[in-house]
Amino acid sequence: MTTFQNFIGGQWVAPATGEYFENRNPADQRDLIGRFPASGSEDVERAVQSALRGFDRWKRTPAPARGDVLRRVGDLLAARKDDIADLMTREMGKPIAETKGDVQEAIDTAYYAATEGRRLFGHTVPSELSAKWAMTMRRPIGVCGLITPFNFPLAIPTWKAFPALLCGNAVILKPAEDVPHTSTVLVEILLEAGLPPDVIQLVHGMGETVGKAIVEHPQVPVISFTGSTETGRLVGETCGRMHKRLSLEMGGKNAQIVMDDANLDLAIDGVLWGAFGTTGQRCTATSRLILQDGIHDELVSRLVSRAEALVLGDGRVSGTDVGPLVHEESRQKVERYVTIGQSQGATLATGGARVSDGALANGFFFQPTIFTGVTAGSRLEQEEIFGPVLSVIRVASVDEAFAVNNDVRYGLSSSVYTSSVNVAFRALQELDNGITYINAPTIGAEAHLPFGGVKETGNGHREGGWEVYEFYSETKVGYIDYSGVLQRAQMDNY
Ligand code: UN1
Repeated sequence: MTTFQNFIGGQWVAPATGEYFENRNPADQRDLIGRFPASGSEDVERAVQSALRGFDRWKRTPAPARGDVLRRVGDLLAARKDDIADLMTREMGKPIAETKGDVQEAIDTAYYAATEGRRLFGHTVPSELSAKWAMTMRRPIGVCGLITPFNFPLAIPTWKAFPALLCGNAVILKPAEDVPHTSTVLVEILLEAGLPPDVIQLVHGMGETVGKAIVEHPQVPVISFTGSTETGRLVGETCGRMHKRLSLEMGGKNAQIVMDDANLDLAIDGVLWGAFGTTGQRCTATSRLILQDGIHDELVSRLVSRAEALVLGDGRVSGTDVGPLVHEESRQKVERYVTIGQSQGATLATGGARVSDGALANGFFFQPTIFTGVTAGSRLEQEEIFGPVLSVIRVASVDEAFAVNNDVRYGLSSSVYTSSVNVAFRALQELDNGITYINAPTIGAEAHLPFGGVKETGNGHREGGWEVYEFYSETKVGYIDYSGVLQRAQMDNY
């Protein structure tokens, strides 16, 4: 059995606690991937002290040179894409085609970061005084604590770590305890690409211990967290009290709206991918399908037969459409929502049960599930499930569809299928989400555009794209007065 270690102080080291946890394949619990450190606050303390030394050196490395390291990271990820995808599927279950997409997102993020090393623009603007220069520049901040989820085991750590590193910060990564192997490989690749060892620290373990110690550490001024809204609230309370810079990416209850004038084939392909891709375990997953009266019945009947034809199985077996849930607690949560849906009067159109026969006996499999007749405002329609459960809501009009979309506490992504350019543009203006897709599913954000949501999905920051570089750097202003006399701003200019 393989025992993995933390990466702290430039070395692979055992946790100070001496304790480990097991990481097993969610498609087959008999398959043990390895033992990983169940670290404690002493490990975090060592990681912070080492990261501070790394930061001191890395912040002086020119940004284009930092970008070169990330370009090499992209090259190494591309060369090992198949192997990494395989280990990711073994670790968290989604089919190989999806984990390859996850690796590709990391590659794209690396190459984007590499080129950003030659930009990191500030602004030069005219001064209000003569013979005076005014400009802004971007400075690194310090040690960034990154706490990441299981569903994109490579992409999400890279969304955070690559821009943080490019901006000249040091990083402490605490990956979800479901996917420690993927982060281990990511750190190996960062080192192989030439990142100075003190600049990256990997501390495995639980959120309540390791995550909490990172968030509460006074020498970690930047925290980025992706996970549940409930945990995000706790993280936010601490960061608020300690005046930390915090980026939160949390829950979603995303809807696909299909109007009477939509291309139904396209809409059905879209919702199958949006609702059951990654077994519904995306914060962008389609968990509500809002259908206009005229197409409701036809779409539901075609969708149900397509959902029933999806092949459930081990993501490493070719032909698998939908993999297992990540662990048993997730499956129990999905089951609870099936019971809640039935007790609130929704109709179970397909699925609703765990699958444990034959080759699926040792994994956390659950049928793709569709409820129809779901009432707007009911728990099934309002609460994030993070599993393969789709709720169908019937509406009469565009106005009603948009109102149902907006009447939830979350605001990540939305999707509208229509052939009307007017409805499409109205959707972009009126839907309360960070991302709206027209004639495409609610999932599939691209690495070079800002990613994030409104309301209780986030706290106003974005990942990805150009915006994330603002999060990981501080704006500094420089004024150079070359007049040789005292000029008083707001006083001597007119
Ligand atoms: C997430 O589930 O936390 O747009 C992120 C998408 C993915 C990202 C999902 N690229 O669905």
